[in-house]
Amino acid sequence: MARSSIFMLLLVAAVLQISVGVRAQGTNTFDWDFQVRGDAICTNLATGVTIDNHPPYAMNTAGFSDSHRNIISYDTDDIYALGFEKLSSDPSASFALSIYKWFPSDSSARPSVFQAKGLTGIVATVDEGATFRILRTGSLELRASDGSLAWTTGTESAGATRMEFDLDEGNLILYNKSGAKVWESRLNNGSR
Ligand SMILES: *[C@@H]1O[C@H](CO)[C@@H](O)[C@H](O)[C@H]1NC(C)=O
Repeated sequence: MARSSIFMLLLVAAVLQISVGVRAQGTNTFDWDFQVRGDAICTNLATGVTIDNHPPYAMNTAGFSDSHRNIISYDTDDIYALGFEKLSSDPSASFALSIYKWFPSDSSARPSVFQAKGLTGIVATVDEGATFRILRTGSLELRASDGSLAWTTGTESAGATRMEFDLDEGNLILYNKSGAKVWESRLNNGSR
C-alpha cells in the first residue's frame, strides 16, 4: 500500500514535470514558426528581457539575473537558456548573445557554450537596451540600442521557416520547409 502510494506520487511528479517541459511544445524545446508569427523584438533591460509579439506561451519563465537576462528559458534547473550575457561586472559592460545552462533555483548560470561571433571570430557585443530580433524573413539579428547591427545569422534567403531552441542540448536551430537544417548555433557562429 505504502509502496503503491509512493509510486503514485512519483507518477504525478513525473507528469507535472513533463507538463512543465511541454509548455512550449515538445520535450524541452521551444518552437517558433516564422510563417505564423510576425517579427519578435526582445529587449535587454536591467529588469529582464521584454518581448514584443511573444507567443501565447511564456518564453522566459525562469527569471533572470543582472549578468544573465534570459530570452528563452524554462523554470527547470540544469537545462540551457538563450539570453543576453553580461561580459563583466562593470555597470556599463557589454553583453553577448549566449547559450548557457541556467539554474532558476538560485539564478545562477554555467559558463556559456555559445556566444554569437562575427566572421572575424570576435564576440559581437551590445549594450543595455539592445535587441535580439526573430524576423519573419527567417533570420535572427542582434542590434545595439541605437539600432546598429552587431550580428546576424544571415539566413534571409535560406528559406528558414521554423526556429527551434533545444533546451536539453543547448542548440538554436533554423529549419527550412522540408525539415533540413539551414543554420545551427552548435556549428556556426553566424556572420556579420
Ligand atoms: C531545404 O534544404 C535542403 C538541403 O539544403 C534542400 O535539399 C531542400 O530543397 C530545401 N527545401 C526547401 C523547401 O527549400
